[in-house]
Amino acid sequence: MGLLVEIRAASSLPIKPLLTYPNHNSNSVRFSSFATTRATSPSLCRFSFSMASSSSPFSPTSPIETSSDSGLNATSSSAVGMNDLLIVGPGVLGRIIAKMWQQEFPGSKILGQTMSTDHHSELAELGIVPFVKGSPLSQKVPYVVFCAPPSRTEDYPGDVRIAASNWNGEGSFLFTSSSALYDKYDNDWCYEDSIVVPFGRSPRTDVLLKAENVVSEAGGCVLRLAGLYKEDRGAHNYWLAKGTVDARPDHILNLIHYEDAASLSIAIMKKRLRSRIFVGCDNHPLSRQEVMDCVNRCGKFSKKFEAFIGTDGPLGKKMNNSKTREEIGWEPKYPSLPAFLGLED
Ligand SMILES: NC(=O)c1ccc[n+]([C@@H]2O[C@H](COP(=O)([O-])OP(=O)(O)OC[C@H]3O[C@@H](n4cnc5c(N)ncnc54)[C@H](OP(=O)(O)O)[C@@H]3O)[C@@H](O)[C@H]2O)c1
Repeated sequence: MGLLVEIRAASSLPIKPLLTYPNHNSNSVRFSSFATTRATSPSLCRFSFSMASSSSPFSPTSPIETSSDSGLNATSSSAVGMNDLLIVGPGVLGRIIAKMWQQEFPGSKILGQTMSTDHHSELAELGIVPFVKGSPLSQKVPYVVFCAPPSRTEDYPGDVRIAASNWNGEGSFLFTSSSALYDKYDNDWCYEDSIVVPFGRSPRTDVLLKAENVVSEAGGCVLRLAGLYKEDRGAHNYWLAKGTVDARPDHILNLIHYEDAASLSIAIMKKRLRSRIFVGCDNHPLSRQEVMDCVNRCGKFSKKFEAFIGTDGPLGKKMNNSKTREEIGWEPKYPSLPAFLGLED
């Protein structure tokens, strides 16, 4: 039986419990009023954007189409395909999702909404049709994944609401949240249905809780991700650059490789579930010290980490996402950081 999550807003607005944890009744579909708008005929739909920047390769009102062979074509109109995808925040994770999506659904269109035009040419080269935040989409799309971080916007829940409004309610809407929402600081085990922090605990968690509520109201799913990493990005890289870090070494953290976060995101979207919460982690929690011992031992980094010198601060948690794996039918390619680094697990 699915458990219900109840999230209450500090603003005293009544929040309906909508999100459910992984269970085996996953096909119950719930649409919000604005998520059910369907194109009467896919062949009549066109993507067109008002491009906000002059550096965009597209003219302000050009209908935009991706083509499977040459990338982009700014002149012709386009039907909305059944597997077309909007990626809000095509950064590190979003670009890997795009690549995997192209392999999974060749010929599908992938739109990428960004904060700026800084990376539009790179995105276009990857076959992603870029447009800046604030440019309205004239047609809704069947798949939307929100993977922009909360750090660069004044109104993160508002951005998520706009993303939801661009979903046509057919395929899936997925929001990448954080396992930091779980209210556990004793280095013990934590699961999909463990308790989350209440509203008011911190601005950082409030913004995520509010965003998750927007997703739940739209019928979208939430993927609470552990710390994302790849060789040159993640907590280990940040600590390595510092050398000595004022944090306690025994705090346990949870990780997932960027590629695995992408494959899990796609696997969830393909299930076309509604209002559900999943967790993305590798089920191999490590202490900060263990992470950096791996980095020092693996021989892949020229620099050596010195030490964690802190003695206090909260402990962490050990995330386990076995329920997510069972329901989605997913396993990570990299079962642990040591395995990824070529060390014995
Ligand atoms: N990093 C972690 O350890 C971690 C842990 C848990 C969850 N997450 C979540 O995982 C997701 C992916 O993380 P990531 O490291 O791949 O992100 P990222 O690379 O930092 O994402 C950057 C992309 O997001 C765009 N962007 C930023 N703010 C935006 C906004 N408000 N609206 C539209 N686009 C915006 C940027 O646009 P420009 O091209 O203009 O720069 C860029 O395309 C995020 O949702 C993050 O919160 C991350």
